[in-house]
Amino acid sequence: MTERWTPTSWRARPAKHIPRDYPDPAALTAAEDELRRMPPLVFAGEARRLTSLLGDVADGKAFLLQGGDCAESFKEFRADNIRDTFRLLLQMAVVLTFAGGKPVVKLGRIAGQFAKPRSEPTETIDGVTLPSYRGDIINGSEFTPGERIPDPQRLLKAYTQSAATLNLLRAFAGGGYADLYNVHKWTLGFVADSPNGTRYKELSQQISRTLDFMGAIGVTPESQPALRQVEFFTSHEALLLGVEEAMTRVDSTSGDWYDTSAHMVWIGERTRQLDGAHIEFCRGVKNPIGMKVGATLEPDDLLRLIDVLNPANTPGRLTLIGRFGHDKIGQKLPSLMRAVKRAGRSVVWSTDPMHGNTLKAGNGYKTRPFDRILSEVRTFIEVASAEGVHPGGVHLEMTGQDVTECTGGARAVTEGDLADRYHTHCDPRLNADQALELAFLVAEKLRSQREVEPVAAAV
Ligand code: TRP
Ligand code: MN
Repeated sequence: MTERWTPTSWRARPAKHIPRDYPDPAALTAAEDELRRMPPLVFAGEARRLTSLLGDVADGKAFLLQGGDCAESFKEFRADNIRDTFRLLLQMAVVLTFAGGKPVVKLGRIAGQFAKPRSEPTETIDGVTLPSYRGDIINGSEFTPGERIPDPQRLLKAYTQSAATLNLLRAFAGGGYADLYNVHKWTLGFVADSPNGTRYKELSQQISRTLDFMGAIGVTPESQPALRQVEFFTSHEALLLGVEEAMTRVDSTSGDWYDTSAHMVWIGERTRQLDGAHIEFCRGVKNPIGMKVGATLEPDDLLRLIDVLNPANTPGRLTLIGRFGHDKIGQKLPSLMRAVKRAGRSVVWSTDPMHGNTLKAGNGYKTRPFDRILSEVRTFIEVASAEGVHPGGVHLEMTGQDVTECTGGARAVTEGDLADRYHTHCDPRLNADQALELAFLVAEKLRSQREVEPVAAAV
């Protein structure tokens, strides 16, 4: 691993989940070359800023909220979808900021989250076998032979969609849509309508009173621009390394390499082999990096991966995203947290309560029960507290739309309801109500945890 890194050095390593069956490899190279000439989507200074904010999370001074679609798609690409996901993340951020008493880093799983690793290379329906759908950046989800052929033109379409998405997100983040008072007003609407509303009323009223107080003393969006805008960052899984390589550029200020396809990229559970291509690529770019950590990872192997990905032990460089399952986290996470802490390695610990809690409903739909998702987050906070580690963040698959993909929640989605609005192109996502509800329940948990901590020093 001490060998010289270049943006292409991953190509000499075993690479899982990168398609090799493009019918015309020259066309793929041409598309990658075209991407190489495209403007960066983000710039290095922004990625450094995110590292610094995540450094605060690593130090226990902030929280990370990361969320968005399992997979973005060309068909669902609409301004409304982007707006609703953005709005939902902000609503959750207000609740978590208030409950935790710490700033929340807002990180979308958006504007580039297209490529999917699949457990099976092929899919069989009624005796017909075709290559699996691997995300819109690679092939099409429709079950026809033509759609499932990898198409290099999709790389460029994904770039264009990411650029347009990011443009709108930047407008929302800076243009007044993120006004704290507005965001909270939307949440009051949710609380009024939720069957579980009385449970969330107290917290939302406390936020209302706090905003009233701030307004009364002149701290308003008019006087304080920070109340009208947010810093919003983007992330996706660095799976299709040809694309990531093409978007990787030298930053003229620092001379370092940055993957300019997003502020943060993460390494998936299926591609985190120590000597594999994905670790090799990610070790050389200076962006903040995430890595999924599942039940099969042993403490020693985790420490080896940390050595490779964050040799300088820079706070905020590495976010570990646990995805164990509600029934395994209590058994697996403590020894991992302990090992990292004992080795003196600075990381952000985050929890992905989605991917370890997927099951097949009786009617064949892939779903995730809300209670198990909540249970994994709660256990995450308990384990972290017991280990003296900051429960730094959550990573969610969610949408601002009113879909029926995960079961449960206050407005209980049943297995029978799944067929109503099951729109996901990949994994089941929390809908807007379920996600906001989760934020309230996590907030409750954070507050109960805060009560046992000493009060933050009043200056
Ligand atoms: N800029 C501050 C922050 O990001 C306050 C803020 C403004 C805010 N609008 C927001 C916080 C919307 C959460 C959600 O924390
Ligand atoms: Mn997923």
